[in-house]
Parts: sequence; structure tokens; C-alpha cells
Amino acid sequence: MTNIQLDRIENEALRNRVVTPEEAASWIGDGMTLGLSGFTRAGDVKAVPFALVDRAKENGFKVNVFTGASLGSDVDTLFAEAGIVNKRIPFQADPTMRKSINNGDMFFVDQHLSHTAELVRSGVMGPIDFAIVEAVAVKEDGTIIPTTSVGNSSLFATHAKNIIVEINMAQTPLLEGIHDIYEPGKQGERGPIPLEKADDRIGELGIKVDPELIRGVVFTDQADSPSTIVQPDEETKIMANHLLDFLRKEIELGRLDETLAPLQSGIGSVANAVLHGMIDSEFKNLEVYSEVLQDAVFDLIDAGKVDFASCCSITLSDEKMKQVFGNFEQYRDKLIMRPQEMSNHPEVIRRLGLISINTALEFDIYGNVNSTHVSGTKMMNGIGGSGDFARNARLAIFVTKSVAKGGNISSIVPFVSHTDHTEHDVDIVVTEQGYADLRGLAPRERVPLIIENCVHPDYKQQLWAYYQEALERGGQTPHVLEKAFSWHQHLAEHGTMKMEKEVVETK
Ligand code: COA
Repeated sequence: MTNIQLDRIENEALRNRVVTPEEAASWIGDGMTLGLSGFTRAGDVKAVPFALVDRAKENGFKVNVFTGASLGSDVDTLFAEAGIVNKRIPFQADPTMRKSINNGDMFFVDQHLSHTAELVRSGVMGPIDFAIVEAVAVKEDGTIIPTTSVGNSSLFATHAKNIIVEINMAQTPLLEGIHDIYEPGKQGERGPIPLEKADDRIGELGIKVDPELIRGVVFTDQADSPSTIVQPDEETKIMANHLLDFLRKEIELGRLDETLAPLQSGIGSVANAVLHGMIDSEFKNLEVYSEVLQDAVFDLIDAGKVDFASCCSITLSDEKMKQVFGNFEQYRDKLIMRPQEMSNHPEVIRRLGLISINTALEFDIYGNVNSTHVSGTKMMNGIGGSGDFARNARLAIFVTKSVAKGGNISSIVPFVSHTDHTEHDVDIVVTEQGYADLRGLAPRERVPLIIENCVHPDYKQQLWAYYQEALERGGQTPHVLEKAFSWHQHLAEHGTMKMEKEVVETK
């Protein structure tokens, strides 16, 4: 161990517990449950999982893998390829793992990201055998200082039978001081969460654990995986402008002012582009209260638009990562990183009155949103935090391009093929065609607005035809039930949702 490495472990006894990733992995047995740090490719452990995959190749075994959200460093890919995972919770975004899930080779529990903590704390999810968490340092009293995400790390570390800490020398030590670890306690015995503003500090600077539970410390030296977002294109820029127009209208009507309200923006290229669109706007002194901070938030900080950002992870492109972590001193006082239970807590989201922007795969004529299942059956990534935010935000906004796959899929359909966010939770839907403000509207008031403002011209007539037929059947929420999924069926059979002209006209 070098002196620089030694400086990262203040506790004398723990200095004697430094082990290789292989030795740490050898403690993990078949059927165990692991709680891994990591949230949307940030702050994940980068050595023990690889050693575990190598072990599994020799003598196959399966483990349950709980995380904050998706992992980077190809861990989910390798886990899926090795067939090592029995059950994965609560979010993933990896193409190989996606295939395993959809082939039925592993179980995936798609869970609201604020819920995992309650379920683990109450014992519903069973014991965590090993928490394996990335840190920048371990303090004298055993306090673990996380890196670029908190996610569920504090929950896992404080509920596990054993802890393995990976100290990552590639993560800047300047991260120490930005975390705020708050433990709300058991349900039924807790008071209100004392968080009234995005920049309130309510907890500890690190994860307090009994050092005796830290069975081993492993050193790594590897940066986080860069995010996979695509930079804003013409369509996402247009979408951003529609959303900005909506927010301007809210200001005109006196419901918001130029500082808006704390912003939450979900993962993905579209949500990133929308925030990016605020750089050249008149909005100012903005605050962010979100899970993941993507590139756009740091661009907004650099542009002097965002004063403060609270999150549970920072996931950046390669270039942005170098800029932000290479100059972290200038960002530290503008950031707080919390456990995902706090960044996504319904009580806090409702109190702060967030403007919440998430992405839909598809939505329907009444405003139900599908964020997870392609054509109703195939898992994409998972619901993530979108449900935590949508149900509780001041403004629950969903964005999506009006068509996908070269125009063969309409993102607005008669009936969503899977419902993540019901019409009761969705306030505004936005596509590059325009936006529909659904607040206070009955189902039959919503339909014309959605079709006229959001649907791609190629699908407008087809959707009107469906709705006219549905209207003949009547009801609070009219449908032609036997045709409600006909667009998805047509896609499966013909590779497109576009129906022959005669079919549309005779409906
Ligand atoms: N049917 C089938 N595929 C569709 C589709 C639809 N209706 N709409 C989009 N897609 C495909 C796109 O073609 C694209 O495919 P590709 O990867 O093969 O190019 C993919 O879905 C991603 O779509 P894109 O338009 O690039 O959006 P994105 O990167 O912003 O991701 C979600 C969109 C919905 C997948 C993503 O936001 C997500 O997983 N959301 C759920 C979790 C969440 O909202 N968390 C928020 C809190 S962090």
C-alpha cells in the first residue's frame, strides 16, 4: 500500500484489512444477496464484481444484486453474460442484461427508486449478506465517504451483515463534504423529514457504520463510465422550446416566477436536451432537486443559471467529467448528494413543489404513460424515479419524440401497452409537435388537445378515426377495446403502426 492510499484509511485496524478483489470475492457464496453502490453509471464498485464473474466462470453460482440504479463499467453486461444474477433490483439500463431479462433468464424487480429503502429496512427484501460500496475514504470511526453517487449505498451498508469497501483513487478526494446522509428511521416511528429547501443539510457527511462490519478494503483506480446520452438534436431542441413556452405561460398567469421551482430531470437524452434549452432563456437563479445530474445541469451552473443542485448521483459525458471533476472546487458549494430515498422522497417532492421532467416511451390519448415496456412486454430500463416524481411533483411533465424507429412507431397510441404513470399523475405531455396541458381536464377534453398538439401528422387521421369510433361506444373514457392494442399488433405483424389508408377510413 502506498502512503497516498494509506491516507484514505484513517482507521488503523482497517488498514490491516486491505485485500485483493479476488479474496473479497471468495467470501461471497451461492444464493447470497449483494447490495452494490452505483447509480446510473456513477460511483459503482469496479473490482469485486469482476472477480466475482471470474469465480462464477469456474464454479457457477447465482446471487441477488441490489443496487441504486444502473451500473457502469460493464458490470451489468458481464453479470448477465455470466448468468450470475438470480434477481436484480431496482433499475438497469444495459442492453445485454435487458436481453437476459426479456429472455426470462433472470428476474428483475422494477421498483420505484424511493421504495427499495423502505422494503429493505422493513426486512421484506431479506437480509443483505454483503454491501460492496465505493468510497473516497474511510474515517477513523468507520464512516464511509461515498464517491459520485449515494444511491442506496448508505442503506445497504447500514443493513448488511458484512461490508466491503472499494476505495477508488481515481475519484477526487474533494467529493468529501458534498454528501448528506440522512436516515429517516422506521415507518410509523419517524417524524417529518426536516428538509424545506433544496440546499438544506439534514444528515451526516458520510455513512456511519461499525468498523468491525467492514470485512475488507479493496483499492481501485478507475474513473466512472461516461454517460451514454446523445447531445441535443433539432427535434429535442424544438421540444425544449415548447416546454419553455409552457413555463413562460405559467409565469404570465402568475403561477411561477422566473426562478421557476426546483427542477427534476430524468435520465436520457431528451430530458438532458430540455434542460439544455434553458441556457439561453430568461429564467434565472434556478434550483435543481433531482436524482441524476447530467451534463446540462453543469452547463447551467457554468452559465450562471443554476444556483444550487441536489442529487443522488452525478453522471457525465467523458469530456464533462474531466471538466467538472478536474475543477471540482468551483462546484462543491453548489452541490449536495443524498441517498436516493431522500432525492426521491414523496414528502420532500410534494413540499418543494418540483417541476418534474421525465421521458415516456409512449403515451395514450388520455395521458397514461408507458416509460418501461416496449409494446407492452419487453423491458427497456425500468421506471426509475419517474413514478416517485410524477405522482408528487407540482408539475409532472413527460416528453417524447412523436415517432420512433424512423416513423414506424407513433409514440402516441390509442391505449398504452403498459401503464407506469396513470392519467391521474400526468400533467403535461410534450413532443416536438407541441404540448398538451392536461391539468383539470376530463378524459374527453384531453383527446383533441393531445391529437392536435402532440401527434405526428402521419398518425393524426388514424388516431382521430380510432377516437371517433370509441366515442360512438360512449363512456367516461371511451375505447374500442378490441382495437385498443391494434396499433401494437400491426407493428408486430407489419413492422409499422401505419395502417393502410382504407383501413383507417373504414373504421
Ligand atoms: N416503442 C419502441 N421503442 C421506442 C419507443 C416506442 N414507443 N419510443 C422510443 N423508443 C426507443 C428509441 O427508438 C430508442 O431506441 P434505440 O436505443 O434503439 O435508438 C430508445 O427507445 C430510447 O429512446 P430515446 O428517444 O433515445 O430516449 P431516451 O434516451 O431519453 O430514453 C427512456 C427514453 C424512456 C427509455 C428513458 O428515459 C427511460 O428509461 N425512462 C424510464 C426511467 C425514468 O424515467 N427515470 C427518470 C428518473 S431518473
